[in-house]
Amino acid sequence: MTTTKSQDLLVYPQKGPLRGTVTVPSDKSISHRAVMFAAIAEGTSYIRNWLPAGDTLATLAAVRGLGVTIRVTREEAQEWDLEIEGRGLRGLRAPEGALDCRNAGTCMRLLAGLLAGQSFGTVLDGSAQLRARPMGRIIGPLAGMGAGITAVDNRAPLTIAPATLRGTRYEMPVASAQVKSALLLAGLYADGPTQVYEPGPARDHTERMLTAMGVTIRNEAGWITLDPPTEPLKPLDMTVPGDISSAAFPLVAALIVPHSDIVIEGVGLNQTRTGILDMVKGMGANIEISNQHQSGGEEVGDLRVRFDELHSTAVAGATVVRGIDEFPIWAVAATQAADSSHVREAHELRVKEVDRITMLAQELRKLGADIDEVEDGFTVNGPVRLYSNEVDSHGDHRLGMAMAVAGLATFGHTRICDAGCIADSFPGFVETMTKLGAEFKWLADDV
Ligand code: S3P
Repeated sequence: MTTTKSQDLLVYPQKGPLRGTVTVPSDKSISHRAVMFAAIAEGTSYIRNWLPAGDTLATLAAVRGLGVTIRVTREEAQEWDLEIEGRGLRGLRAPEGALDCRNAGTCMRLLAGLLAGQSFGTVLDGSAQLRARPMGRIIGPLAGMGAGITAVDNRAPLTIAPATLRGTRYEMPVASAQVKSALLLAGLYADGPTQVYEPGPARDHTERMLTAMGVTIRNEAGWITLDPPTEPLKPLDMTVPGDISSAAFPLVAALIVPHSDIVIEGVGLNQTRTGILDMVKGMGANIEISNQHQSGGEEVGDLRVRFDELHSTAVAGATVVRGIDEFPIWAVAATQAADSSHVREAHELRVKEVDRITMLAQELRKLGADIDEVEDGFTVNGPVRLYSNEVDSHGDHRLGMAMAVAGLATFGHTRICDAGCIADSFPGFVETMTKLGAEFKWLADDV
């Protein structure tokens, strides 16, 4: 069904185990990149199983706004196939108005890098939620390359002037794939090499995909160096794997609903993304990986997840970076684990779609969770029997889905207000969970 932003979701307490085999939507990070990178290739790119979610559709529309022809050759609810006519590195056209990145930080930050070195100006804008997020982290280092980006208080809208860029050597203060990617994309237009230091293993899809397109990129002890291309970029021909960040929701659901036994097929298992598997395995989770193979330059496999007693764990350092989007759902698992589970060195959670430390603690407490907030993380004291209540997604897709999974473990009905945002990354969430035996119901605006 088509969801709208104002919809609420009712979650029924789970009576029996979750069982069955499902797939999850395609990877959001790779889907954003596929459209942007194909746009500057020379020739036609073929992208299979592309994710048509709220965030990635913003990127698709923005790239079309830059004069790129994109044909949808297969249109299913959860995945599309695309043919994209690349316009070459210098072939993008000035858009007619501001490009709307909606809620998508990846769309805005990567496009800012791509557009910083063009011969025309652009304005990037987005929703109120995106306008509240910090953009100084890209504006500063891009300015160091000669970019001219203006923004009030380092917040969107971003006004990007035409510029000639120079190579840079930039040490990121926090590991961020969005910042890294913005600089590497700008580096395609620079007069010399661009070097970015990452203090932790941020997702490396940009490096993999640009390498497949013929760009020279190397990683030496955390310094990533991109040489400006001397040849046109080759088009992409790839199948996007399932998103481990979406798989995390049915995965944790199976871990907390007694006697569950599920399989999630075709999940991307890139080492820079599998922090959630390490986090829940550290709590005693029973997860088997099978059918491992390569697809679209990425490791892919099937996950079999079985319910088991969970115990506490402590997460910090590189695992935080490798699982940065999974803390809302990890916290739900921690409510059902024995003793105190901690996450630290995760200050970045405060600048995601919402402040995912304060808002997560606030909403989980409404269900009876025992959760203590600290500046750079939180502690969850478990196990607790959750009770039903009305909670709010605050327009954050991952917070909304985490609360919906928590609702399976409550005594009564749980109402997730403003749950339409789930479609920003996981359009078929309710259908997927229903297939596994969960019971959810969308409530119309007037209910
Ligand atoms: C993303 C990078 C991460 C992640 C976001 C997607 C990407 O953000 O949280 O959901 O596709 O590059 P940061 O780079 O800000 O950590």
